[in-house]
Amino acid sequence: MQPIPSRPRLVASILPADFARLGEECRALQDAGIDRIQWDVMDGAFVPNLTVGPDVIASVRRVVDVEFEAHLMVQRPEPLLERWVEAGCEIVIVHAETCVHLHRTLARLRELGVRAGVALNPATPLSAVAHVLDLVDLVLVMTVNPGFGGQAYLSTMESKIAEAAALIGRAGRAIELEVDGGIGPDSIAGAARAGANTFCIGSALFRSRDAMSQELARLRQLATASEDAA
Ligand code: DX5
Repeated sequence: MQPIPSRPRLVASILPADFARLGEECRALQDAGIDRIQWDVMDGAFVPNLTVGPDVIASVRRVVDVEFEAHLMVQRPEPLLERWVEAGCEIVIVHAETCVHLHRTLARLRELGVRAGVALNPATPLSAVAHVLDLVDLVLVMTVNPGFGGQAYLSTMESKIAEAAALIGRAGRAIELEVDGGIGPDSIAGAARAGANTFCIGSALFRSRDAMSQELARLRQLATASEDAA
């Protein structure tokens, strides 16, 4: 079981990367000190955008060591679950909104030997995961409506983040609380104060392409100071 991160965990969304140089971009993220890379998997149905499949992830897996999480923003995640694991993802995150049999899907991920995450769109209540926390290693609270990078952070999600932190605290298990969407220097403190301990960052990180390690250090410091103050 993964321990709750003692320090804020920073995850890079791959969405803003140069897809013509994915291997180099991921190596740069690894060298800058990112804790994990998030593959934003989109099918053009669940979200109005289309991105990568497992073969692309498997290609990049060969050139970096940092952990991968697959964020499945897809209408039907079950048919390809094994493929993300074979591609080298240590975490697979499904959306509660796309899993009629969420308990069964999470149990399957556990059988496949990966950590299981559940993502919640802004309008989806936390109750969607209340009865499956025994199978969950990560709850992902979306702080934008998924589909595109560069959107504004929804600060109205901070009450939901705090509710999730309380629910996880009562579960008595090591469950990461990740936020995703519009996370940057102006929003990470609020998300951390609300209880998030893992932060998925896209545009705000790639905007500092030439000073990524410094930006990561700044973001980590902002999150740490806020967690301490919470
Ligand atoms: C949104 C994606 C997010 C997004 C994060 O649909 O799931 O991961 O790319 O990017 P920023 O940080 O630019 O909002």
